[in-house]
Amino acid sequence: MRADNDVAGASLILKPALDRISTEIDRQFDLLLKVPKDPRGPLYEAMRHAAIGGGKRLRPLLTVATAELFNVDRDRALRVATAIECIHVYSLIHDDLPAMDDDDLRRGKPTVHKAFDEATAILAGDSLHAMAFEILADEATSPDPFVRAELMLELARASGPSGMAGGQMMDLAAEHHVFDLPTVTRLQQLKTGALIAVSVEAGAILGRIQPEGRTALRGYARDIGLAFQIADDIIDEEGDEVLAGKALHKDAKAGKATFVSLLGIERARDQAAALVEQAVSHLHGYGREADVLRAVARYVIERDR
Ligand code: IPE
Ligand code: IPE
Ligand code: MG
Ligand code: MG
Ligand code: MG
Repeated sequence: MRADNDVAGASLILKPALDRISTEIDRQFDLLLKVPKDPRGPLYEAMRHAAIGGGKRLRPLLTVATAELFNVDRDRALRVATAIECIHVYSLIHDDLPAMDDDDLRRGKPTVHKAFDEATAILAGDSLHAMAFEILADEATSPDPFVRAELMLELARASGPSGMAGGQMMDLAAEHHVFDLPTVTRLQQLKTGALIAVSVEAGAILGRIQPEGRTALRGYARDIGLAFQIADDIIDEEGDEVLAGKALHKDAKAGKATFVSLLGIERARDQAAALVEQAVSHLHGYGREADVLRAVARYVIERDR
């Protein structure tokens, strides 16, 4: 059970942390995406449209909050957080394309293929994908080439067929197959969980924590990743489109197996809450320095967008 003042306490910590990271990430993208005065202009405009001004910036917050546990320089953590957000934004641009979810609204704005065109949206996604690894490979991210290589390896794994892209493929198949709970769990772990997990892992890599020392953080990330996607499915089922900034009620319409369709809304909600408690319990070895991570865990299921 959670006392009410825990919720208030969590939002007192979380709101300024989210506001700060949102401003920082917007600034990073603004600096990275100066529009050239040549025929590539619309590509940069499309990337700016998708990347700047919107989104919860939850993955970047996870990276900087984890890096903070290990006193990593904020500017380096911010570069890694931006790289991960590049992958996330690219995945959203492609997810919204007519060949995938065919959506018109994202983060309260027209999707990239609506504001521009499909070809530009595909290229904007491709470019953000490439930019992520360019940022990580740069010496400004870490002077240690082993740290840079590990960051690139983990982000590549989390993005490709063993991670986000693989999960998206399973998600497409979910429209035509009846998936059971273990299969849906795996789908969600790949589609959403992998990028959330690497957001935490990256903070530990920057902090030069060896894999043996990352077990608790990995447990935390796995649990909030799953809770996060259950919350997304619940929002899809019964959320408010204006607050969410995207079209809802799409999963049921597509006949997709989700946690909500398999468990029903109440059990899905209970499951997400249990995962959040479990996530927080993984952090028992950390003190107040992990309060932002605890607050993020609670926010993952309390959010309405
Ligand atoms: C939406 O992610 C897509 C999923 C992986 C479910 P977010 O809910 O983090 O989207 P933004 O970044 O806040 O727009
Ligand atoms: C998208 O999942 C996940 C990725 C982009 C990897 P959804 O299709 O459920 O996300 P929304 O609901 O459109 O944000
Ligand atoms: Mg989708
Ligand atoms: Mg979608
Ligand atoms: Mg969804």
